[in-house]
Amino acid sequence: MDHQLIHTVNKLQDSFAAVGVQNPIDLPQITVIGSQSSGKSSVLENIVGKDFLPRGTGIVTRRPLVLQLVNRPSTKTVPEPLIDVDSKKSSGSGDSIANMANAKPMPHRQEENEDEWGEFLHLPGQKFYDFSKIRDEIVKDTDLKCGANTGVSHQPINLRVFSPNVLTLTLVDLPGLTKVPVGDQPKDIEKQIKDMLLKYITKPNAIILAVTAANTDLANSDGLKLAREVDPEGVRTIGVLTKVDLMDEGTDVVDILAGRIIPLRLGYVPVVNRGQKDIETKKMISAALDKERDYFENHPAYKSKAQYCGTPFLARKLNMILMFHIKNTLPEIKQRISSGLQKFLAELAQLGDPLGDEMNSQSNVVLNVITEFCNEYRTVLDGTSSEISS
Ligand code: GDP
Ligand code: NA
Ligand code: MG
Repeated sequence: MDHQLIHTVNKLQDSFAAVGVQNPIDLPQITVIGSQSSGKSSVLENIVGKDFLPRGTGIVTRRPLVLQLVNRPSTKTVPEPLIDVDSKKSSGSGDSIANMANAKPMPHRQEENEDEWGEFLHLPGQKFYDFSKIRDEIVKDTDLKCGANTGVSHQPINLRVFSPNVLTLTLVDLPGLTKVPVGDQPKDIEKQIKDMLLKYITKPNAIILAVTAANTDLANSDGLKLAREVDPEGVRTIGVLTKVDLMDEGTDVVDILAGRIIPLRLGYVPVVNRGQKDIETKKMISAALDKERDYFENHPAYKSKAQYCGTPFLARKLNMILMFHIKNTLPEIKQRISSGLQKFLAELAQLGDPLGDEMNSQSNVVLNVITEFCNEYRTVLDGTSSEISS
């Protein structure tokens, strides 16, 4: 189903491009907010399925990172099949947004692939095929604009990642909420960061991942508090509980998941990211996702609900929200194209233009793809309202 979503959306975008409409579907931006070192960058990296973000204890993310994933068809002569259910089973991370259309199992080393690269807005034309170099550049440009100490800047870093295996979509990594200024930080650092985050999460099409470390008190969660300010109904906020592996023995997040502490309409997803030691030993993302799965499947409190835990479930939840968004956008787009087409054809008829027939058939391709999409997804979309709010 996830492969199918990427495939269909890309087909839609391609058909629109063929008739001169670029990115008609304004897909939601996925944003992460929460306290400093709660694990925001780690969560985002796991969702994307690539190792490229600076992570660590203390204030590491000091500027917004606006990451645009851009789908770009493979240039290989023999295209890989978009759907390969069997190989997906062998991959512990098959549901990440980046690789859910990837027919191959995740490689154990982060391999360079000529079809996938990153490009920074501030370094036009320079292609980064090695994702660890992307991380180095983020650190370098952060130091340049914020100073090497603890300064924070509103000025975003814009990174685009091109790949045949992603959905064209934007994710935003943000600095964490802090209370006490350190180093070079101004006295009003708390307010400055809060205002910066509000700018991103106020947009009605922002999906908010409110990250809280499970070994801290949920009632004090800065991320949840801020999310509530802009999304009081909780229609676009997902609670993410990190560091579940660091909780005191005998304690767990079962009550939070059941909505008995602070209920959230879209619910909570517990995850286990790489710890500081894993960062130092450069543990691979695929190994981390395997470990996460083992953790939930073998833990007495979670093993009965392991399918609702971990990064793959978070990615599925996000996919579902994206699908609902697309579904809700389609009738309007369809209407726009139909009326544009009618007007255009009327004008052509007056001119007696011989190209009229060709344009007509191109626009009809778009309408057919949309109709196909609606039909393909009707059953899925109608049947998922309970899963999305589970
Ligand atoms: P951010 O400041 O919110 O972006 O947090 P980072 O992603 O940079 O992570 C902060 C620190 O917490 C790093 O040392 C991570 O390795 C560690 N960390 C994040 N998530 C987890 C987790 O689920 N388990 C463990 N053990 N450590 C984690
Ligand atoms: Na941090
Ligand atoms: Mg961070």
